[in-house]
Amino acid sequence: MLSKTMTDALNKHINAEIYSAYLYMAMSAQASHSGFPGIANWFAIQTKEELSHTEKLYAYVNSQGAHVILEAIEQPQTKFDSALELFEATLTHEQLVTSLINKLADLAVEEKDHATQIMLQWFISEQVEEEENARDIIDRIKLAGNQGQGLFMIDKELGSRVFVPPAA
Ligand code: FEO
Repeated sequence: MLSKTMTDALNKHINAEIYSAYLYMAMSAQASHSGFPGIANWFAIQTKEELSHTEKLYAYVNSQGAHVILEAIEQPQTKFDSALELFEATLTHEQLVTSLINKLADLAVEEKDHATQIMLQWFISEQVEEEENARDIIDRIKLAGNQGQGLFMIDKELGSRVFVPPAA
């Protein structure tokens, strides 16, 4: 059973995850508009990942017999000036999500909520990967140059990303 405090915090985080999906969809739209189909694909897959994170939390709150309350989704930033800016904004956003997950984990410890602590372990590991992915692409764009042939190659490579549903 979830406490009211823990339920409210998890519901708030469901909103943060769905906002992440919305932000990455806006980034995908910007990349398409700027002529980068591969980067647009990368962000479209990232959108699906965020929806799967949302679903994971949704299923957990339901499974504990608590009530999922959906809130309004804030409008994300919709204009980005370059590929580098897109991925730097991604890293900044993922660092924010990591801090939110860490606060949820702290709360679960305070509440002596062992089931939620175990559930959040998956998200803690996932955030390490999320930050690493963004950092890796930033490094490659910086090496290749934020335009021209180098960026064209990175765009091509990011076009091959496919969605892999997370383990249950
Ligand atoms: Fe759901 Fe990208 O963290």
